[in-house]
Amino acid sequence: MTLTLGDAPTTEFPISRVREAFPALRAAEGFVFFDNAAGAQIPDHALAEVNRHLVQFNVQRGGRYGRSVEVDRSIAVARSKIADFLGASDPREVCLGMNATTFIRQVSLAIGQSLGRARSEIVVTDMDHEANIATWRALESGRTRIRWWRMRDDGRLHVEDLKPLLTRRTRLVACTATSHAMGSRVDVAGAAAAAHGVGAELFVDAVHYAPHGPIDVKAWACDYLVCSGYKIFGPHMGFLWGRFDALKALPTFREDFIPDEPPHKIEAGTFIYENVSGMSATMDYLAGLGGAGGLRERLATAMDSILVYERGLSRRMLEVLREAGATIYGVADPDRVADRVPTFLFNLRALHPAKVAEAAAKAGFGIRDGHMYAPHLMARLGLDMDWGAVRVSLSHYNTTDEIDRFAEFLRRFAG
Ligand SMILES: Cc1ncc(COP(=O)(O)O)c(C=O)c1O
Repeated sequence: MTLTLGDAPTTEFPISRVREAFPALRAAEGFVFFDNAAGAQIPDHALAEVNRHLVQFNVQRGGRYGRSVEVDRSIAVARSKIADFLGASDPREVCLGMNATTFIRQVSLAIGQSLGRARSEIVVTDMDHEANIATWRALESGRTRIRWWRMRDDGRLHVEDLKPLLTRRTRLVACTATSHAMGSRVDVAGAAAAAHGVGAELFVDAVHYAPHGPIDVKAWACDYLVCSGYKIFGPHMGFLWGRFDALKALPTFREDFIPDEPPHKIEAGTFIYENVSGMSATMDYLAGLGGAGGLRERLATAMDSILVYERGLSRRMLEVLREAGATIYGVADPDRVADRVPTFLFNLRALHPAKVAEAAAKAGFGIRDGHMYAPHLMARLGLDMDWGAVRVSLSHYNTTDEIDRFAEFLRRFAG
């Protein structure tokens, strides 16, 4: 199979090799993982590394003995690999921790503490996961105003709609890189340019985008960006990237003995070292899909090929949903798959989403129903929180055969 993106042919995506690398897929016995937006599977590389860490180096960092030195080394290596994944040139800009939400909260608290009278407005979107809305709305007060960048009927955020919200009072814009519910992509570089045009900063939630395509924080020119390891084929952990000067200026909580320098000033307490090692190994797995060159080049090439492969999955799934008569929220045109990742939100006529997900589970598909932790998006789409919609979210290890099996299920169930 040769994949084509527009007129540009690319080399064949090594789907068999990819699937072979994931122990959960090898042991799946026909079960189909279509709930990847909630959490992805991890490759052998990562599993082995978590195990190795726990057996060989399960001690606290900062000691003078070999095992402890090795923990410090493994953290430094992971930080540097993640910097390559993000296209950052300075590993000190990468902060390691527990998950995305706590990082968003930490940055929002620091921004809140430093909000001046002159810069008192924060822009959030109605398309984001609540983690990137509630954390900023918590700053709302007599002095701090929240403004809403609203999604259009095409299921996308348009930078043209952001611009009129921006003034000299805007301190920060917080937006997603890609909707975790509908898969719509956002023009992050455009949002950054608009925010910077009025002297504001851009905070990007890349949790959902990160497993689907290359990130280049320099080209995007954002100020902060957050990811979750467990969504990018790693164990449970999170990381925050911030422009060095931006992180340096944040008034964060830190214990007395912690240097007031990135990344340490953002890394509160002990995080899960074995999971950081696992994430590090996941970077090697991804780089292995990327051909030749240094780690950054290989990671960028790998994520590019994932992006292209997944466009094929998107096209096929859109056809299937259309054949099933589904109401698709977001980008539904198969010719516009470049505007989305393979995450689909839909409803099937008057069928309750929970019933669809239950029937899918019986047929061997892990999919999700409900509000997708996005109450503002549900309101925007006119969906009740206790009804919501069905979400099917694919990843680079899914196949068109699995989509065809899903089509068969939909025909039987809703046909
Ligand atoms: C887009 C998005 N942002 C943020 C989060 C929260 O991430 P975490 O669980 O790492 O706090 C999620 C989790 O589903 C998400 O999908």
